[in-house]
Amino acid sequence: MAEATDTVTGIEAAEPHWSTRFPLNGAFIFTFGALGGMLFGFDTGIISGASPLIESDFGLSVSQTGFITSSVLIGSCVGALSIGTLSDRFGRKKLLIVSAILFLIGSGMCAASTGFLMMVAARIILGLAVGAASALTPAYLAELAPKERRGSLSTLFQLMITFGILLAYASNLGFLNHNLLGVRDWRWMLGSALVPAALLLFGGLLLPESPRYLVNKGDERNAFKVLTLIRTDVDQTQVQLELDEIKEVAAQDVKGGVGELFGTARPALIAAVGIMLFQQLVGINSVIYFLPQVFIKGFGFPENDAIWVSVGIGVVNFAATIAATMIMDRFGRKQLLICGSVVMTVTLAILAVMNFTGDVSKLAVPTMVLIACYILGFALSWGPISWVLVGEIFPLSVRGIGSSFGSAANWLGNFVVSQFFLMLLAAFGNNVGGPFAIFGVFSLLSIPFVMRFVPETKGKSLEQIEEEMTRR
Ligand code: BGC
Repeated sequence: MAEATDTVTGIEAAEPHWSTRFPLNGAFIFTFGALGGMLFGFDTGIISGASPLIESDFGLSVSQTGFITSSVLIGSCVGALSIGTLSDRFGRKKLLIVSAILFLIGSGMCAASTGFLMMVAARIILGLAVGAASALTPAYLAELAPKERRGSLSTLFQLMITFGILLAYASNLGFLNHNLLGVRDWRWMLGSALVPAALLLFGGLLLPESPRYLVNKGDERNAFKVLTLIRTDVDQTQVQLELDEIKEVAAQDVKGGVGELFGTARPALIAAVGIMLFQQLVGINSVIYFLPQVFIKGFGFPENDAIWVSVGIGVVNFAATIAATMIMDRFGRKQLLICGSVVMTVTLAILAVMNFTGDVSKLAVPTMVLIACYILGFALSWGPISWVLVGEIFPLSVRGIGSSFGSAANWLGNFVVSQFFLMLLAAFGNNVGGPFAIFGVFSLLSIPFVMRFVPETKGKSLEQIEEEMTRR
């Protein structure tokens, strides 16, 4: 194809990257780009309703059922770790497509499972996909978003996670005891993930590659095209300025890889891993995954009522995350994180003291209200910001592998909390005050961590952040 020179930018307009030929708009790109989050939320949330049904259908032991729940977390840890170098090498887009294919295979196998082993294999495949999506999506969104709106647009990932969790709860409720077309209810619950997985594949095929990845690979022309496609509110001169900034920083980058990650990028690694571990150690998934069990075991709720409690929490979580997308670029990230930690520490402390000293039989409603406040604190801060930060604080040359390490730390923390929560609850004689006190201590410790190790990234370009982190 003949090459023409753009009169404004002087960049040769050669054969466009095929994904830039479609008339895509920003809303499509960011929504489909964040869709991996919905599968993340759905696949981790769905099992709370489906596992008791699978347990009785397959005649499983309690530990086998527990393993079906946690195998997805093991897969996610491996998926997150292995995707990093691949995404720095092959690009964010291609690997999003690979993770969509894994989502399809895993969801299909889950729904068609004939026994324990097949179910575990399917859940591990799903985990690989969830882990991969959790490492790829934050970096992809951060690399596409303009700096003034990067916080809000990257928060779309968390919004999708919370929407996925809510959909999972709704699907649990909707399919429970409805064996449509003679197919067991839990198969419908798990199989319904095929729909968002197919959407992710469709979106992945159309989405453009990240402009920063393209620059890093020397494909400046297509980087310019992609930037033009998503920066519809500015003229080509400004797009060119942005491209120049990306090129300048990319030119100074050393080769990348594990050596640089533990060397010049170490401050970013410490911040990302710490943030991700704290995000889990404040105990969010004890609520997201196990709340019905807490109300059944701790307060003697019947099962049906307990499921409704979790639907309520899912709604609060989702609604608060919508609010988070609106405030994300108004307040500093560190400011929001510290506020969130204070809210969580206070609510967890009250919950612990109340459940240790009060008459437990009268505490179900106050516990519910306090948990809602705790979720609000998390959803406006640590929920979205951890994923926003992990996508933005690593230098371009190690962004893929850095996000991988950060995400893997998140899955590891998630695995630890999920494995030990019910044991901890039992150790405290089913009094939720015990585990909540421990989570409260971690919430408190997160405050000095943020103050000391986390950089403020609001309103800065990824290239400015990179320079600051390198100076550290
Ligand atoms: C966490 C998940 C959690 C979800 C709840 C995410 O940011 O990483 O583990 O289930 O928030 O909304």
